[in-house]
Amino acid sequence: MKAIGLPILAASLLATSSLALEPITIKGSKFFHADGSQYFMKGIAYQRSPFDPLLDKKQCQLDADLMKQLGANAIRVYHVDPDGNHDDCMKIFEDIGVYAFIDLDTFHTYIEQDGPPHWNETQLTEYTKVLDNLAGYSNLGGVFVGNEIITRSNGSFAAPYIKAAVRDIKAYMEEKKFARKIPTGYSAADIAELRPNLQNYLACGDDSSVNVDFFGLNAYEWCGEATDYHVSGYDMLNKNATDYPVPIFFSETGCNVPTPRDFKDQFAIFGPEMRDVWSGAIIYEWIQEDNNYGLVDYGRADPKTAIGGDTWARGGKPTPLPDFTVLKSVWSSVTPSGISKDKYTSTNGPISCPASTSGIWNVDPTSALPTLGQTAVFAEASGDPVERDSTATTSTGAPAETSRPNSAGKVVVVLNSCFMAAVLAVAVLL
Ligand SMILES: *[C@@H]1O[C@H](CO)[C@@H](O)[C@H](O)[C@H]1NC(C)=O
Ligand SMILES: *[C@@H]1O[C@H](CO)[C@@H](O)[C@H](O)[C@H]1NC(C)=O
Ligand SMILES: *[C@@H]1O[C@H](CO)[C@@H](O)[C@H](O)[C@H]1NC(C)=O
Repeated sequence: MKAIGLPILAASLLATSSLALEPITIKGSKFFHADGSQYFMKGIAYQRSPFDPLLDKKQCQLDADLMKQLGANAIRVYHVDPDGNHDDCMKIFEDIGVYAFIDLDTFHTYIEQDGPPHWNETQLTEYTKVLDNLAGYSNLGGVFVGNEIITRSNGSFAAPYIKAAVRDIKAYMEEKKFARKIPTGYSAADIAELRPNLQNYLACGDDSSVNVDFFGLNAYEWCGEATDYHVSGYDMLNKNATDYPVPIFFSETGCNVPTPRDFKDQFAIFGPEMRDVWSGAIIYEWIQEDNNYGLVDYGRADPKTAIGGDTWARGGKPTPLPDFTVLKSVWSSVTPSGISKDKYTSTNGPISCPASTSGIWNVDPTSALPTLGQTAVFAEASGDPVERDSTATTSTGAPAETSRPNSAGKVVVVLNSCFMAAVLAVAVLL
């Protein structure tokens, strides 16, 4: 399927291709196939190269052949080239029933937690280039406006900028008369102190034009035999998502301690415990890297040409690793049928926006979202400026590697010691 800038033309192309995989749609808190059956995501984080893994037809075919054996029906890609031609790879994945969930940001345009947080015209333009490039593909499952933008419990002041990005991406699709409104969501780091406030904030109130269409959680709390539905905290995750008005799923998961992984969490996610609330999971990750989350490897690369900071090859013939075999067996035994679209009526009405709680959730639910170009400014207070490293992550067992956007680098921020109090006095700079 061709990706072209004109959504109307794209729609007519879609209509003439009888073998096209029909887009998934959202009703209430669930995804549905065009035939009305519920879509449960069995996804793989697929980012062979730091930039764009969807340009190499031969490689996509090699990987897709194995993903088909694995039983995957989704991939997640963190970065694509907005000028690249994705026809071949998207078609290859379409042919095996795989939907692509793609991040709109790049290493240079993601919304920063520090810096201070802002959302501007340059970022919007770069995001929409990616969106325009992909919107014509019927198997584009959805887009993320950000991945793990907030990485600390005291980072909540960046949340309105995430929501502003959702608002502007949706407005863009409206303004350009997209034939299909691409589901737009966010992928959150697992920060215990922000649960469930961030999740609720992004989908609260009754103005769907500013709310996420789905919410993804990157979670690495369920680790092998030592963990179960309760020890992992999944019982509470489930409880806290029961009334969620839009689909929620794990946008990254798969704790790798111990290895090989047993993926027992999948039995809960697709089983009676969670399947009524959650829409599935994306397993981190396809390729092997030094962080040891791979389902396959391509052997070792020549150290001289190696990319990504280690010597694992980023392409070639994929060889399944032990985790692949386990996941294949687990996935083949969890096949929920869910509910059909016409029988389903969502009873999850609008949820209320979390109240501002000093030191925990520093977002006033009554204040307007930032306008395009607005930057958070923290009021001055006494104290020496501090330098802070933004690469720290608070999520246990979570991977840190080259392909994920927010491990990109060090951001130096000047802050002062009375910061938390000052956060409440966010001013506007145009
Ligand atoms: C938007 O912010 C980026 C930094 O994230 C900056 O490079 C760019 O110049 C800004 N654009 C505008 C229009 O202010
Ligand atoms: C569930 O929500 C409560 C507050 O309503 C919060 O204290 C708790 O940490 C949340 N648990 C999880 C696992 O998200
Ligand atoms: C935010 O939390 C981090 C630790 O998680 C701490 O290093 C930093 O100083 C905090 N920032 C402020 C301004 O309180």
